[in-house]
Amino acid sequence: MYNSKIIGMGMYVPENVVTNDDLTDIMDTSHDWIVERTGIQERRHIKKGDGNTTATMGVKAAKIAIERAQIDKKDIDLILFATLSPDYYFPGSGVIVQQHLEIPNCPAMDIRNQCSGFIYALSTADQFIKTGMYENILIIGSENHSGGLDMTTRGRGVSVIFGDGAGAVVLSRTEDTDKCILSTHLHSEGQFAEELALIGPSTNRWVPEIIEANDPMDISYYPNMNGQLVFKNAVVRFSEVIMEGLQQNQMTPDQIDMLIPHQANLRISQFIQRKFGLSDDQVYNNIMRYGNTTAGSIPIALTEAWEEDKIKSGDLVVLAAFGSGFTWGSALIRW
Ligand code: ACO
Repeated sequence: MYNSKIIGMGMYVPENVVTNDDLTDIMDTSHDWIVERTGIQERRHIKKGDGNTTATMGVKAAKIAIERAQIDKKDIDLILFATLSPDYYFPGSGVIVQQHLEIPNCPAMDIRNQCSGFIYALSTADQFIKTGMYENILIIGSENHSGGLDMTTRGRGVSVIFGDGAGAVVLSRTEDTDKCILSTHLHSEGQFAEELALIGPSTNRWVPEIIEANDPMDISYYPNMNGQLVFKNAVVRFSEVIMEGLQQNQMTPDQIDMLIPHQANLRISQFIQRKFGLSDDQVYNNIMRYGNTTAGSIPIALTEAWEEDKIKSGDLVVLAAFGSGFTWGSALIRW
């Protein structure tokens, strides 16, 4: 029986910084409202013509992760790409990454689990490694939110929260039973599918119908979110799924060295921090600078935490996410 460990990490965010004050120029909002409710100070948005797409940002993050992993890209056995904002309706963005990285024949698969996408991908990769099927798996989480947000006052409840960016890791086989992914835990609750969703365009609403309707401001083209319901469920599910992981490993919250929550909202992360009695040094937050980058948020935060030397060999690192679906999950890693 094999285990898996992260051997390389990378991240990329577009250069274009959008501050809260920039948003006040285009919608009725304020820096104070956004900071008070979400903790976000600024986010990155792709700029038209800067060459960034969901897949190409993923490629930039992946190249750094592969270089740090010190493996040849030809040794990657599988590409897993987590996103809610793929380049194309089909094919998935995993194969676009494969095209750019020029890796000839490995499988590439997209994971569609929104904010929990990276944890779902990590868990999937861990299973493939545990069975012995694959040795090196490239996992990417990437989002281009800015192109699809309603940047008017009507959309302010959603659009101030999200930012663009990508993170990537290389997960590899290890025979070490100590320093590895200890366990992953996944959940969904489909009864809330439409509470945080982008309904159209979709196969319920094909292009000819959209053209016929001729309404570019149709509300269904933009993400909708029942913010308070999301908040209430998030704090409960984050807590549950972290405890589930700890209990499975016969551990207690005081053994956590670093919690890296999906960067949904700083208030959610602070709630979890208080609930588990963790210090500021034990929870990594960068939502202030990038907003919520959904599937990109955990690998971006993990990369930054590692670059800042906040994760050390032997640490218990806990990853946790909650989001659209609703979906949620956690991963416990002995670093
Ligand atoms: N600027 C100024 N005012 C705003 C804005 C804005 N950007 N957005 C909403 N408002 C107004 C509303 O219109 C409303 O005004 P009204 O009282 O005159 O009707 C008022 O502020 C309060 O609106 P609420 O929606 O009730 O605000 P709330 O306090 O719930 O905060 C928020 C909204 C920040 C979205 C909150 O519900 C939240 O954080 N929810 C969790 C959302 C989240 O984390 N989503 C991401 C996780 S899932 C994922 O990552 C995909």
